[in-house]
Amino acid sequence: MSSPSVIVIGGGAAALSLAAAMPEDIQITLLTKSTTGRSNSMLAQGGIASFHQTGDSAAEHLADTLAAGGGHNDVNMAAGIIKDGKRMIERLLEQHFPFDLDEHGEPQLGREGGHHRNRIFHAGGDATGKMLVQHLAGRLQENVSVMEQVTVYELLLEQGRCTGVLASHEETGLFEMRADAVIIAAGGCGSLFSRHTNDTTLTGDGLMMAYAAGAELTDLEFIQFHPTLLVHEEVCYGLVSEAVRGEGGVIRDENGRRIMSGRHAMGDLAPRDVVARVMHEEIRSGHSLYIDISGCSHFAERFPTISSLCETAGVDIHEGRIPVAPGMHFLMGGIRVNEWGESTVPGLYAIGEAACTGLHGANRLASNSLLEALVMGNRAAQRIAQVVPARITDESTHSLSAQERDGCYEVPHITLEELQWHMSKSVSIQRSGEELQALYRWLHEVQTDPIHVQKITKEQLERLHLWQLAKLVTASALLREESRGAHYRTDFPARDDAGWKGKQIIHSRDGIQIRENEGIAQTWNVYS
Ligand code: SIN
Repeated sequence: MSSPSVIVIGGGAAALSLAAAMPEDIQITLLTKSTTGRSNSMLAQGGIASFHQTGDSAAEHLADTLAAGGGHNDVNMAAGIIKDGKRMIERLLEQHFPFDLDEHGEPQLGREGGHHRNRIFHAGGDATGKMLVQHLAGRLQENVSVMEQVTVYELLLEQGRCTGVLASHEETGLFEMRADAVIIAAGGCGSLFSRHTNDTTLTGDGLMMAYAAGAELTDLEFIQFHPTLLVHEEVCYGLVSEAVRGEGGVIRDENGRRIMSGRHAMGDLAPRDVVARVMHEEIRSGHSLYIDISGCSHFAERFPTISSLCETAGVDIHEGRIPVAPGMHFLMGGIRVNEWGESTVPGLYAIGEAACTGLHGANRLASNSLLEALVMGNRAAQRIAQVVPARITDESTHSLSAQERDGCYEVPHITLEELQWHMSKSVSIQRSGEELQALYRWLHEVQTDPIHVQKITKEQLERLHLWQLAKLVTASALLREESRGAHYRTDFPARDDAGWKGKQIIHSRDGIQIRENEGIAQTWNVYS
């Protein structure tokens, strides 16, 4: 009997956390459609949130997570992930992960939006994600192999169980690979929108493949728009971390007015949905917005990544201000999973941004995503080690010829830019029923071209996944007739607990359902 094997789709922090934690007698193949250097984790400027400061506690971290999440978090999941997250930080400290330290050699804890305490661990100033990915990659053992430039087309099912993937390598073509478990760690879908902070490879592939295999997707209406993207002369250059505001940066308009004054008790460090909405209104009224960084000491040393983005954009940080506007940052929803990362399809797991654990609710608290990636990668590894004790599927990989593999994908007859323009116009920071209806119709009227599986390109497949996901996101945003967290309806501007408390909008191949979730209903009791 050969040793058990798993396939991981993705190469960011969640994928690597799982691979590094897996017992050495389990073979792991990481498939990434580009290179391992391309993921949202690599771009994460913020850090890892965890209670550490004297006086801070799991309860306070949880309270901030729930307050940011708009009463839509799963309280038990959130409490468990925050608790386990502390262990992940301790482990990183034991492994001498190069966290930024203060003059006493203690971790230098920063503050970001929605946190009432300094609890953000950083590394490399604003390069925590990149340092974490490199650290985890360095801990991989010989049981892990990485295949780059591999586009996964479909998940393979046998008697309802996920047993592998159909994929294509850029040079060698189509192949099938079997495994005892498949883990989706392929991130979110920033490319749905014109302006975003994500790596451009993030096109919702994992979500739509899981959906096609029968998994449930949930909470897709909750898309986080980060308040501060560096946008200069209409071109977006990337993120300006909330940590900048944590260290004294303030958002001002062209006249120097502080736009967050009087808008929220936490001012510039209010939860992201609140700041992004205020900024959206200000920009719509014709104002230009900046982060005033004149109060941030040693900006270039503390924020090397942002300083380099400014240089690329031709923005001189010595002038003390960086032009900013909000843009898509993070999908709170995703593949519905339990505390072990198991989806509703046996053998199929999801971790990281592709998954919806319930930690983030309707709006993610800053720096809770790397935390979740570490915890859920570890938990899924533990679970798989328990439930996959012996190989249950047949040996492994074989190439497919054109004769063996048949069938077509219906690829939408639209450009990526068209789709992004429509999504940015109608499913953005503010949404209205009328605009969502119009978009829903447009998306469903799009013509498609059948493209044979042997002929389809990576770009066509990405466009297909984005279009399919756009339809689900729009349907969810239309159905949720209230405003909560990052989902703001101009025609239903209030939170409607009587109608929507604890309810999730769930998509599956069988259709769309509104379902009560007990874990979320409990949060509402804690939160309200
Ligand atoms: C940021 O640095 O502002 C982003 C961090 C995060 O998304 O958690």
